[in-house]
Amino acid sequence: MAKLVAGLGSKKGKNKKSDKPQSLVSANHRTEAVRIKTAAGRKIASTRWLTRHFNDPYVQEAQKLGYRSRAAFKLLELEERINLIAQAKFIIDLGSAPGGWLQIIRAINPHCLLIGCDLLPIDPMPDVIFIEGDFTDAKIQTQILSHSNGQKPDLILSDMSPNLTGHKNTDFTKIALLLEHTWQFSKTHLAKGGHFICKTRASGMETDLLKEIKAHFAQARHIKPKASRKETGEFYLVSMTAL
Ligand SMILES: C[S@@+](CC[C@H](N)C(=O)[O-])C[C@H]1O[C@@H](n2cnc3c(N)ncnc32)[C@H](O)[C@@H]1O
Repeated sequence: MAKLVAGLGSKKGKNKKSDKPQSLVSANHRTEAVRIKTAAGRKIASTRWLTRHFNDPYVQEAQKLGYRSRAAFKLLELEERINLIAQAKFIIDLGSAPGGWLQIIRAINPHCLLIGCDLLPIDPMPDVIFIEGDFTDAKIQTQILSHSNGQKPDLILSDMSPNLTGHKNTDFTKIALLLEHTWQFSKTHLAKGGHFICKTRASGMETDLLKEIKAHFAQARHIKPKASRKETGEFYLVSMTAL
């Protein structure tokens, strides 16, 4: 596959302007550190989050390149390694807001049918069908499928993350449940030979489910993109060629 973008942190691609999506994020690319003052009423934890967010080189780079989220870089890296988006005819992107992945998909593959879904609204995007609602709701799934023109999706992506409570077991259960819904939908509707990419965590709760998913595909890989923060424990299961 032709290299889509400059490698992460590579000097070669630094500051390179191109109409292709760029995943370039160099540590040297950081602008001056932003300091967030602890405002009265704002918790230390949220001040820490804001400070980290605004000093994150991926956030800065996303703003510079006009990507709607730092998550865009995760998908760019995934695509550099697996090259599945470019060939797809019908892609469903679950957990799309604010739309970084949709932007990357459209830039790489301008012609596929592209449907996004999220609980949250997004700013409209040309040539993207967006369904606002809870993907676990059967009515929302029917709505997604009603736009398929009788085609089966050949690539289903999920970057969905539930709202976390901070209570480990509750959160792991919520993540596992969401993955279960995503897989049930994908198992039923994905085209033969299609691909399924989902975000998950090594919580132990999904072990059996991940095994089951992998058994439905010719090939599966765990990928943790560089833009995915270490402390989240998240990674992407990339399952290729549905049997
Ligand atoms: C990490 S964000 C996705 C970022 C996105 N991939 C991007 O590139 O901008 C996770 C998203 O999952 C969505 N989400 C969580 N649970 C959902 C559900 N049940 N149905 C639809 N979206 C959901 C959240 O609203 C949130 O916007």
